[in-house]
Amino acid sequence: MSKVHLSPPDVGPLEESYALAAIRSGWVAPLGPDVDAFEAELAERVGTAYAVATSSGTAALHLALLAVGAGPGQVVVMPTLTFAATANAAIYTGAEPIFVDCDPTTGNIDVDLLEPLLERLDTEGRRVAAVLPVDMFGVCADYDRLLPVCARAGHPVIEDAAESLGATRSGRAAGSFGRAGILSFNGNKIMTTSGGGMLLTDDAELAARARYLATQARQPVAHYEHTDIGYNYRLSNVLAAIGRAQLCRLDGMIRRRRELRDQYAKLFAAVPGVRLLADGDPGANCWLTTIVVEPAASGWSPAELAAHLAAQDIETRPVWKPMHLQPVHAGAEAVLTGAAERLFATGLTLPSGSGMSDHDGERVRQAIDGFLGSR
Ligand SMILES: Cc1ncc(COP(=O)(O)O)c(C=O)c1O
Repeated sequence: MSKVHLSPPDVGPLEESYALAAIRSGWVAPLGPDVDAFEAELAERVGTAYAVATSSGTAALHLALLAVGAGPGQVVVMPTLTFAATANAAIYTGAEPIFVDCDPTTGNIDVDLLEPLLERLDTEGRRVAAVLPVDMFGVCADYDRLLPVCARAGHPVIEDAAESLGATRSGRAAGSFGRAGILSFNGNKIMTTSGGGMLLTDDAELAARARYLATQARQPVAHYEHTDIGYNYRLSNVLAAIGRAQLCRLDGMIRRRRELRDQYAKLFAAVPGVRLLADGDPGANCWLTTIVVEPAASGWSPAELAAHLAAQDIETRPVWKPMHLQPVHAGAEAVLTGAAERLFATGLTLPSGSGMSDHDGERVRQAIDGFLGSR
């Protein structure tokens, strides 16, 4: 019996043929025709004018923040419930993060907290480089409310859509909501290039600045002239080829993840004290299905279910430990309600990989059934 992972890469013959073609073409380099094509195809898919392929989602975030002028003496407002990379990228620029608590139904940034925070920062004369919402686990933040709040305050939005390619809200695609958006193609994401990312924007100047900084800030002369500090952040051509193959399969991979979510929803429908995070969001890409368990009502804790599944070689994971609880961010400013801490204590992500076989899917469901039956 092999291990069932949370969200392993789903790659096969199509990716192999694209990678092989890229290698045989001789373009084994950062940049090349597959990078150009991947950027054009992704921009079309998300509906932005420009896309800049990067070596990771974190690199894309860093570039987006630099391009809107983030730096020392400034703050970047972001959810506390996110992966470390969101905060890291802000800190790379010299800016400081301010963490905001989440909406308990989705885990995304709580817009009710955002508006008074931005007003207070304005009154205090603080310099806000950007607001950086995260589309958690493949569910878009509440942009219908968030964008007007940020527009009124006059701050750019950088969308961390690392996990949400293919998700939508109000007819718009994840990655297209802010001044810039970013995607991740890390191995565990909805589609992968093994490692990689993308910056998306409608702003020609921002895209050009990001491209320039991502290629060591080289001036357009033969002798390597530099007037800025740059980065080596571009995506390799071979990895872009893998991404193009994955993009062809994206809708099928989202369908499979949705199918798994529907099966989990059925399994837990009659279980007291259990709900799905962001249940019923029609635009979710269903990247990771997460249950939220209230032990007082269920009679068991998410840790007990996790241990039961681990004993059968089935991987699960708690929801992220919020950034304001991380030792590295001790002392950082935060606006809190307790919602993120509750999701950290009560949330559990379940195996959601699009490559999961029917047999493994059944194995997971039977293991959960066995656990629920023993309670
Ligand atoms: C919310 C979020 N932001 C940023 C990143 C960073 O992406 P990458 O791993 O490609 O650098 C990730 C994933 O790893 C993520 O989940």
